[in-house]
Amino acid sequence: MAVLEGLLLSPSAFPLLVAVLLLVFACLHLTGVNQSEKRRTPPGPRPLPLLGNLLLLNLKKVDYSLCELSKKYGSIFTIYLGPRKMVVLAGYKTVKDALVNHAEEFGDRDTSPMNRSISNNHGIIFSNGENWREMRRLALTNLRNFGMGKKMGEEKIIEEAQHLIRVFENLKGAQFDTTQPVNYAVSNIICTIVYGSRFEYDDARFKAMVNRANEVIRLSGSASVLLYNMFPWLKPLIRNAAVIQKSTRANLEEIQSYTNNLRETLNPQDSRCFIDSFLINQQSEEKLEQNAGLFHEKNLLFCVEHLFAAGTDTSGTTLRWGLLLMAKYPHIQERVHEEIDRVIGGRQPLVEDRKSLPYTDAVIHETQRIGNIVPLNLRHRTSCDVHFQGFFIEKGTPVIPLLTSVLRDESEWANPYTFHPEHFLDDQGRFLKRDAFLPFSAGRRACPGESLARMELFLFFTSLLQRFRFTAPPGVSEDDLDLTPVLGFTLNPSPHMLCALDRA
Ligand code: HEM
Repeated sequence: MAVLEGLLLSPSAFPLLVAVLLLVFACLHLTGVNQSEKRRTPPGPRPLPLLGNLLLLNLKKVDYSLCELSKKYGSIFTIYLGPRKMVVLAGYKTVKDALVNHAEEFGDRDTSPMNRSISNNHGIIFSNGENWREMRRLALTNLRNFGMGKKMGEEKIIEEAQHLIRVFENLKGAQFDTTQPVNYAVSNIICTIVYGSRFEYDDARFKAMVNRANEVIRLSGSASVLLYNMFPWLKPLIRNAAVIQKSTRANLEEIQSYTNNLRETLNPQDSRCFIDSFLINQQSEEKLEQNAGLFHEKNLLFCVEHLFAAGTDTSGTTLRWGLLLMAKYPHIQERVHEEIDRVIGGRQPLVEDRKSLPYTDAVIHETQRIGNIVPLNLRHRTSCDVHFQGFFIEKGTPVIPLLTSVLRDESEWANPYTFHPEHFLDDQGRFLKRDAFLPFSAGRRACPGESLARMELFLFFTSLLQRFRFTAPPGVSEDDLDLTPVLGFTLNPSPHMLCALDRA
């Protein structure tokens, strides 16, 4: 007050007073702008009550509908799936910026009512916090010890590829559906890691487990389950939700039974597989009397179920896309044959051959890019309030880091919608690593099975291509081989038959 009185008394102080007032006003104004900038939520189409933006989406191709919307609303936009508000991240630069440069903020998992009704923060895929950290750590340790990046893993895959080759040989060129033999072979790799043993392809319990796991993944992406996740009160009307629950229960019972057998012969000094390793942790937790421990039976069953399902469907589907694409494009298959014959000849392909097979490696990468088998990615959730690229996203908001928009990003790929192995080759024919190749996603939640999957894809693909020429069935032209995927949580090729002709 004294200051003001002093100022009022002196006419020479007027300019100073005006300056102070202007400064205060400017400060208030600026903080006001910042405040509204801080609260600028990503734009998006106006939602209808209850339905949200449902009418704008093709439920059979939600990923493509979201790509279309990103052309209008930008690479970060809001969408209402029914009453649930979500943020979509589109395009390589934005997805990578969020998942890698803001890994913590975008690193939680969002769960749907369907997931919650089944696994309820147990296991790896749909859990968060301390539970997720511990379970993921244990899975990665075991994947490293029993599989990926190790000679042991390579040997197991080579052995399994030989079993698969025998199945194909026995068909003697007759047309067949690749689904079951390929899924059984790939599943055996993850079985060796989690159970410590492989299964015969005619083992009825094993076959039923693989088929149920694949069915659950397919039905999880069906339009009716999408609707259930938006309007959980529809559950009694959704048959697919009941089938998912029944099949998951049946698989958990099987896992429990295999676990009981392993428990009887457990030697804490000699872990044979993931389940042993989990049980050993369980015992030491009991010794330490940590009652709040994480190594309880439910976590064990869901970890195994998650590794088994995620490790079977994905690699199996990708390999099937690879064989179908070879039959569809014989001139590309011929170049793969030529390279394998020239570099490897008749001996067993090994992981270390990858660097000498740039064309084959490019074909495998392009198969993953065009196959785009996890189009919507798994949903993330913000772990805190986030300020991202000028937008404000509230803590707990579900986020879709849209992989279709990365693997088809028009500013990254010369021919986003066609099978073009040259995307991964330089002008000298050397393998070219591409940053926008993110089929395993990125950041904190990136696929922990990536190294294993890459090893499997390379060894199975080269071993099969070394022995066989894949063609359309007699009387069907390659033009008639359909590349339209069937709807599911992962994108599978439509039902088709192929022939595996012996090249010997
Ligand atoms: C071609 C093969 C595969 C592809 C394309 C693939 C892709 C993915 C993708 C896109 C995610 C979601 C990442 C995210 O949330 O940002 C994921 C997560 C996961 N994948 Fe894979 N995957 C493959 C193979 C495997 C294999 C072989 C295993 C098992 C060893 C596996 C186990 C998992 C698990 C446990 C998660 C959940 C990770 C977490 O929530 O922390 N995947 N995968």
